[in-house]
Amino acid sequence: MKLNDHPTGRHYLQIPGPSPVPDRILRAISLPTIDHRGPEFGALGLKLLAGLQRIFQTRHPVVVYPASGTGAWEAALVNTMSPGDAVLMYETGHFATLWQKMALRLGLQPEFLSLAGTDAAGLPVSWRRGVQADLIEQRLRADTARRIRAVCVVHNETSTGVTSDIAAVRRAIDAARHPALLMVDSISGLASADYRHDEWGVDVTVSGSQKGLMLPPGISFNALSPKALEASKSAQLPRAFWAWDEIVEANRGGYWPYTPSTNLLYGLSESLDMLLEQGLPEVFARHLRWAEGVRAAVRSWGLEIQCTDPAVYSPVLTGVVMPQGVDADRVRRTIHERFDLSLGTGLGKVKGRMFRIGHLGDCNDLTLMAALAGCEMGLKLSGVALAGSGVQAALDFFASRPQGTVLKAAA
Ligand SMILES: Cc1ncc(COP(=O)(O)O)c(C=O)c1O
Repeated sequence: MKLNDHPTGRHYLQIPGPSPVPDRILRAISLPTIDHRGPEFGALGLKLLAGLQRIFQTRHPVVVYPASGTGAWEAALVNTMSPGDAVLMYETGHFATLWQKMALRLGLQPEFLSLAGTDAAGLPVSWRRGVQADLIEQRLRADTARRIRAVCVVHNETSTGVTSDIAAVRRAIDAARHPALLMVDSISGLASADYRHDEWGVDVTVSGSQKGLMLPPGISFNALSPKALEASKSAQLPRAFWAWDEIVEANRGGYWPYTPSTNLLYGLSESLDMLLEQGLPEVFARHLRWAEGVRAAVRSWGLEIQCTDPAVYSPVLTGVVMPQGVDADRVRRTIHERFDLSLGTGLGKVKGRMFRIGHLGDCNDLTLMAALAGCEMGLKLSGVALAGSGVQAALDFFASRPQGTVLKAAA
């Protein structure tokens, strides 16, 4: 018999996506499905597409796919690239690595920039810091033949809890006077961390439903720029389902060329209302505050945060590094079995070395306190020596910094 065979109360889904879905959104999704070619749907479609532009902070089209984020990654590449094109990608973690592998599978030639080596904790340095824009600039300057067609980076690396300065990447491309497109994965950043598609000069932003938008998995996005749309006219990679042109055309009336995920779109409508009612600055401040509270706990435990550069701490999740010799997945398992709390596993090169606490979606101070209490009990049960009580540190933080306290990104 497992220790907790009949859990009561709600499961604590504290992974960095899929995030807990608010009841208001679950109720919207449960409404009867309507005709996706009827007038009622067209009005919904137009509302959604306009709302999404506000969330991506763009005046240009946002394409919605009935697919997980991986589909939208593929869409970004196949709509803009031709076989054999060189793309410059940057290793920030597991998701940057998966996108690079996809580029290879599609017949592109990805070059993967990375910071070399491991640090004293035995962890890859490149997985603990954000994109170094100067390395991108150097590489683009050296590309005198202008072979590189795109720079692809991850805004919020969900495997590590590290963000990257996208405006700095844009400046690097401009400083090198390089024509490459800038493509950004903000699958887990959008609607939690500040993100500005137009202002930062991004050509394609890839995102998904199951993180900051607080929806179940199943829909994903490409936000476009006029330059990306232009590139799609001459790009030669084969595409049909992912092709932007037919979707953008059908979207003018609020429709899709195929059957969209009607009920998830009801949920999206509710999500957009919730986010825009609160206002994006408040949404971003809320996540920064939660993140700082969680980091206060990790510091009091005397454990390392996966991100070593405070300027790019993720507002969405925190990676907690285990002392060498402690299996992070065993700790997670104990916490799950004893307290019905799910934490994110370490992925790829940091498997077994760290776990991830998500602070996004339908959360509040008390759900986070419960998650931290589960972590603290589980760490103790697993024999991890703690320097102090993280729970107490987080209680003090949340009690002394009321909701609405605006924190700077590098707090
Ligand atoms: C940053 C990032 N990119 C890409 C993906 C892949 O998206 P999906 O699993 O929805 O296909 C994820 C999923 O967690 C992610 O966090």
